[in-house]
Amino acid sequence: MEIKKVVVIGSGTMGSGIAAHLCNANIPVTLLDLKTEISEKARERIYKSKPPLLLDKSKINNINTGNINDDFHVVKDADWIVEAVVERIDIKHNLYDKIFKNRKPESIVSSNTSSIPLKVLSQNLSEDDKKEFCITHFFNPVRYMGLLEIVKNENNDLDKINSLKNFCETLLGKGAIICNDTPGFLGNRVGVYAMQVAMTQAIKMKLSIEEADAIFGRPMGIPKTGVFGLYDLIGIDLMADVLKSFVKELHSADKFQEVAKEIPLITRLIKNGYTGRKGKGGFYRINKTSGKKVLEALNLETSEYSPSKKINIESDKVDIKNLINQKNKYGEYAWAVISEIIKYASSLIPSVTKEFNDIDEAMRLGFNWAKGPFEILEEIGVKSFFDKIDSFENNKFLENLSKSKNENFYGDRQKYTEIETFGKIKRKAKKIDKNNSAEIYRFKDFNIVEFTTKANTLDYDSMDSLKKATDKPLIIINESMQFSAGVNLNYIMDFAKLNNFKSIEKFIKYFQETCKHLKYSKYPVVSAPSGLTLGGGFEVLVQSNFVACHTNLVVGLVESIVGLVPAGGGCKEMLWRWSQTEEAKNDPEFASLKVFNIIGYAKTASSPVEAEPLKYLKSEDKKIMNRNSLLPVSRKIIEKNSDFKPPAECKFNLPGKVVKEKMIQVLEKLYNEKIILDHGMEVGKELANILSGGETSLDKTLTEDNLFKLELDSFMRLIETTKTQERIKYTLVTGKPLVN
Ligand code: NAI
Repeated sequence: MEIKKVVVIGSGTMGSGIAAHLCNANIPVTLLDLKTEISEKARERIYKSKPPLLLDKSKINNINTGNINDDFHVVKDADWIVEAVVERIDIKHNLYDKIFKNRKPESIVSSNTSSIPLKVLSQNLSEDDKKEFCITHFFNPVRYMGLLEIVKNENNDLDKINSLKNFCETLLGKGAIICNDTPGFLGNRVGVYAMQVAMTQAIKMKLSIEEADAIFGRPMGIPKTGVFGLYDLIGIDLMADVLKSFVKELHSADKFQEVAKEIPLITRLIKNGYTGRKGKGGFYRINKTSGKKVLEALNLETSEYSPSKKINIESDKVDIKNLINQKNKYGEYAWAVISEIIKYASSLIPSVTKEFNDIDEAMRLGFNWAKGPFEILEEIGVKSFFDKIDSFENNKFLENLSKSKNENFYGDRQKYTEIETFGKIKRKAKKIDKNNSAEIYRFKDFNIVEFTTKANTLDYDSMDSLKKATDKPLIIINESMQFSAGVNLNYIMDFAKLNNFKSIEKFIKYFQETCKHLKYSKYPVVSAPSGLTLGGGFEVLVQSNFVACHTNLVVGLVESIVGLVPAGGGCKEMLWRWSQTEEAKNDPEFASLKVFNIIGYAKTASSPVEAEPLKYLKSEDKKIMNRNSLLPVSRKIIEKNSDFKPPAECKFNLPGKVVKEKMIQVLEKLYNEKIILDHGMEVGKELANILSGGETSLDKTLTEDNLFKLELDSFMRLIETTKTQERIKYTLVTGKPLVN
């Protein structure tokens, strides 16, 4: 079965997300709704979406729109028909009646339902039609969430299911897990249970919502929205509907029922329009008092809002063992939640899935957890877990494990895919070094560096690992969401607060030295980024010899936002790239002015398609839809370059003063128009100094070291200013740039 044309019916949140992602894979798709106006509006929403659902705006041309009355004939041509209409069984049944009367034989039909069992959806279909009908459960937002659950039952043609899986894996880049027809499938069954446990335990143990979110968050390897923040994001009302559906579908003895009971506080919130971020607020709300926006949190006992409090926990590193052993209410809460999640997830084996491993991967891909429940159990250790747990009745999995006491029960990871992923290799590879910021693995004849800090921000230790790992071909890759959000600004500020600028200088020099080492060492270096690859993260990428990147890459040099300039070789490399263009050959000022514009405005690209015209990426860099393929593609690059020779050093002939004056004119215009203020002017002038080549002229040749020096000097002058320090502090506290 080859899928060349798709029809998506229902153009709401999910239908439009699925259609947009098919466009990204260059598959022509027709989006149908009750009226053409509705699907047209959806097309517009896709076009304007933020974060963008499209890799590039031109992809929108792959979408046609229409309505289910006048345009239903398109179904005849489609290889795959995806139903994504409202969660109403009567509406879905009527639609299937029409689809199966019109579709071409051999096509496959699927529903995006999140809760209706396959056997109920397909109850009116003929036995033959049932073979070609399944559930494809995508997660929102479709472009960004890795998980796709394909739900089949005994009626399905397995070849067809497998070829759909293959299509979704290869072309749409999804982690496609085939699931049995059980309520909530894998991800939501465990993910929603986990949320409910985290919420009900917080209420029972009288934790504030900020405390619960601080624990059921980063220290547990869970996104920082925690539980209450996630409730607000999803919609408190939507969560209530999801729970009702679980209560209806699950057996009355299922443990889920205990945590899904109606909570009066939640019913009140929904009734009063506090449905979360889309409503008046939820567990958190933004309140405007005397013109200032204040984040407030709900008190679970009094139902009053008050300014949200920052909770200090011992460490914000993912360290479950340490967390559950803390002798305070945070440790008790963490253990109560984690132990219940492990008990529930393991009770679902084998009825929901034979592979416990699939549950872990569903939690990673669908909920962005760093580890699933079984990996958490492995980390705690089998003996420690059973020493600490009180009871686990009716749980075959835990009964067997408690008997075998097998600490190595886990085995392989990511069984759902044939791809030799980083996740799989990591378990087979030897960990040869580890520090606070990165880990080095050796596999066969190459090294892998994985950054391990929050958002993978970079510091001295990260550089140390990179440098050490260049004694073999090297792949820089990571499993967590971001490749690297840049240099760790907290690390820089800790020195700045003590006026210890010498240490900052030492770090920047080491950063430069490491990047130079990556570029010119004997063995090839491949960066395999996904997610944020900003500032210093980009400088690592750009000074690697090869790049294999995921299509959900967000890349850019954003230093000017915090009043700094790129100083790890970012200015230098961008200048080099732009000076290789035809325009630059005819105009010696072209490259400097172009890069001044890109770095000055801190331009970012939210996909490789957007990154190439800015030259953040090169045309030969590999762009990959499926994140799981980053490692095998990187390995292939290394294999193909067995005779690798490091590149020749770049030499620069830059115009110096002439072009610098032009840049300063640009800055003055922006200053007069009040687009930039005094400090913006300072930062701009430093950038102009670097990109013009400083005190130079076209007849003089500059080396990479000369440019590194210009970057370093500018960086040091700026970091010593109180204005830059203020901007950094503001960004560290708010996560946003200071606008002035
Ligand atoms: P939505 O309410 O945003 O969109 C539903 C769309 O279906 C609307 O545009 C509506 O006009 C259209 N529609 C209704 N009846 C129709 C008919 N007879 N023919 C054609 N179009 C019709 O809903 P949403 O959130 O996109 O959900 C769609 C499906 O995806 C549901 O089954 C839901 O359970 C499931 N789902 C939703 C997720 C979410 O996060 N919103 C996540 C995963 C699954």
